[in-house]
Amino acid sequence: KKIHVLNGPNLNLLGRRQPEIYGRETLEDVELLCRDAAGESHDILMRQSNWEGQIVDWIHEARETACGIVINPAALTHTSVTILDALNAFDGPVIEVHISQVHKREAFRHHSYVSLRADGVIAGLGLEGYAAAIRRVVSLTRD
Ligand code: DQA
Repeated sequence: KKIHVLNGPNLNLLGRRQPEIYGRETLEDVELLCRDAAGESHDILMRQSNWEGQIVDWIHEARETACGIVINPAALTHTSVTILDALNAFDGPVIEVHISQVHKREAFRHHSYVSLRADGVIAGLGLEGYAAAIRRVVSLTRD
């Protein structure tokens, strides 16, 4: 079984952009954390794009190949009906992750289109949020 971990715009700069908010660890560190949390039963496919349409295409691909999706849509969280619609066409569990505690930040970060579909939402746990999200998908898709 495969869990797709999808990351939105600017997360390629994780560890280098606004480290006071997002920390100094990178997306490669996130991948290792996710693989560790997935254990033996589940595989991880880690992806990042700065392009909304690319993320939509990956969600469509997940319809065929993923048992669940962990997604940090980054700024697209707050703007993208397109990503919401794509996720609504996916049948497995979807967990939304935010590294920062978005509800403590600007008002425009308090609303998420993706939360209308997500089965779980994690914010403010730092990178540990990804591990928690993976563990949740594993427990929801264990045979
Ligand atoms: C984020 C929060 C978003 O508001 C922001 O645009 C990001 C990252 C987070 O992981 O905390 O790029 O999704």
